[in-house]
Amino acid sequence: FQPKLLTGRRVLITAGPTFEPIDPVRGITNLSSGKMGYAIAQAAREAGAVVTLVSGPTALELPYGTSRIAVQTAQQMHDAVMSALAGQKQDIFIAVAAVADWKVANASTQKLKKTGEQDMPQLQFAQNPDILANVAAMPDRPYCVGFAAESENLLQFGAAKRAKKNVPLLVGNIGHHTFGQDDNELVLFDEQGHKNLPRADKQTLATQLIAEIASRVSNTNRH
Ligand code: C5P
Repeated sequence: FQPKLLTGRRVLITAGPTFEPIDPVRGITNLSSGKMGYAIAQAAREAGAVVTLVSGPTALELPYGTSRIAVQTAQQMHDAVMSALAGQKQDIFIAVAAVADWKVANASTQKLKKTGEQDMPQLQFAQNPDILANVAAMPDRPYCVGFAAESENLLQFGAAKRAKKNVPLLVGNIGHHTFGQDDNELVLFDEQGHKNLPRADKQTLATQLIAEIASRVSNTNRH
């Protein structure tokens, strides 16, 4: 009998896109499908963890045995993550969601109307909270894992982003064409340097990533 890698651990995961309303029927979102985050949730559960997914709008089925808090905006995702952390101690936080950096500050409570040829709505933006950076700054923080989808110079940006977000492990998607796809290729950045997980389907990569995370968590008492 092999004990599972994450038995008894609590894992909190953000996944999917966020949706920022412009008015009651329109909004700003992105092309994240949620597939990578949901695959990681499934892999963590299969490794024996108690898994909570905080998910933006996706068409995906909830992996067996995990729980989901469904949200739309980045602010709701932030608040759901903070209350999950306040409610129960989490051992690992994996931020996979493609969170909108900005929200529409002057969103309308009524549907915007097209009034004339030259008359365009003037959208104003405000910054959303950085969920990962906020969790990573907590004194009693879980082991934090961030994701990065850079379109160029991943090796350089990956290490820099790991430092900026102040996380022990940063996972880079190779190329920005991963959104919606079934396979992916990852680079893991940690204090040792970087390591590739070669192209495979997202479920295979998720299982490998969970094993990488589990070995780091068992090697450290400082989450
Ligand atoms: O800074 P950037 O958006 O590239 O960082 C990506 C990482 O930070 C991902 O892990 C993403 O889930 C997380 N993030 C977040 N809250 C934000 C923006 C990004 O948790 N507002």
